[in-house]
Amino acid sequence: MLESYKKEFYRENKLIHLNNAGLAPISKSARDKINYWSERFYQEGFYTDKDYMNDVQHTRNSLAYLIGCHSEEIAFFQSTAGAISQLCFHFPLSSGDEVITWDQEYASNLYPWQEACKRSGAKLIIVESAENLSTPVEKIIEKMNSKTKLIAISWVQFLTGSVTDIKKLSRVTNEKNIFLFVDVMQGLGLHSFHMKDWGVDAVAGGSHKWLTSPVGVGFLALDSKFMNIIKPHNIGAYTFGTCDDPTDLTCIPKKNALKFEAGSKQVLEITALGASVDLILKTSVIIIEEEILKLSHRLNEGLKDLGYSTFYNNGSIVNFIPTKVTENKLLSLPCNFAKRGPGIRLSPHAFNSISDIELVLAVLKQ
Ligand SMILES: Cc1ncc(COP(=O)(O)O)c(C=O)c1O
Repeated sequence: MLESYKKEFYRENKLIHLNNAGLAPISKSARDKINYWSERFYQEGFYTDKDYMNDVQHTRNSLAYLIGCHSEEIAFFQSTAGAISQLCFHFPLSSGDEVITWDQEYASNLYPWQEACKRSGAKLIIVESAENLSTPVEKIIEKMNSKTKLIAISWVQFLTGSVTDIKKLSRVTNEKNIFLFVDVMQGLGLHSFHMKDWGVDAVAGGSHKWLTSPVGVGFLALDSKFMNIIKPHNIGAYTFGTCDDPTDLTCIPKKNALKFEAGSKQVLEITALGASVDLILKTSVIIIEEEILKLSHRLNEGLKDLGYSTFYNNGSIVNFIPTKVTENKLLSLPCNFAKRGPGIRLSPHAFNSISDIELVLAVLKQ
């Protein structure tokens, strides 16, 4: 299973991809899907209409399975920020309400909530991370009070991979009737997740990291019990029906998350996302996670042996404090990386090999 997963990724050019928490290469299945649809659009145009719509629906079904929700609870956007904006600007916030988040959230999860609070008069409570940028759930729970309406946090943080215990958090949010929104961008596809079983009210994420599909798709999953209270942000033909319906000023929006998709979609990117999600499901998240942990653990240990200080949370991300020559050494391989937070972020995926990791360690040792 793992071997066939690894074979899905192009390794002929010797590039080492260790910025998968930034932008991962896409799988062969995703590449083939794009080629398939571009060829059919080229040859058949409108005759593809039903088929491509079915394939978009297939992606929705597969993604719902990966997230642990129903497919009619999922809407596609162009980015995670777009998906979060849909939720935050239509969530019923008012003056005096409080929204809680971490002080190290990625901008696409921080700025929309900041703006939603500004517009509504709600207060954004920014919780200070704990030692070494860790994110213990107790620090969030401590800040909850009768004014808290919503928690908006990432499951896995982008700087160092710090994880917040979502199951533990939802026990409290459910009891206190506080809405729990989780940005799953840095965790979905690499660790098991289940929105319903974990008691999460809404999630958002995107296509181009751990899901190894092209840039350009964000998604929102909103629990049906909140569907009535969140109005669509963008409005168009598909809010109500399809492009084939005659205009009707009295029509009413769809009842499920499809009402959030106002118009025509990014068919190539969405169907490619579906192909990569199918690959993850076929391989199994457990197998992918196991391999990622093996690689990141070795990377972390190797860096520590070389004398580097590291930030590692038993996930994919290993962040370490570089010396003056570290960047040039990595670039010489070449191995990509990101400068994030305290140091340099490396983030192996399951398609990486142990020899990628050993090569990086060897060049850093020189
Ligand atoms: C936690 C998190 N959310 C979202 C994103 C991506 O946001 P967007 O799709 O809006 O570019 C990133 C990218 O680094 C991220 O780390």
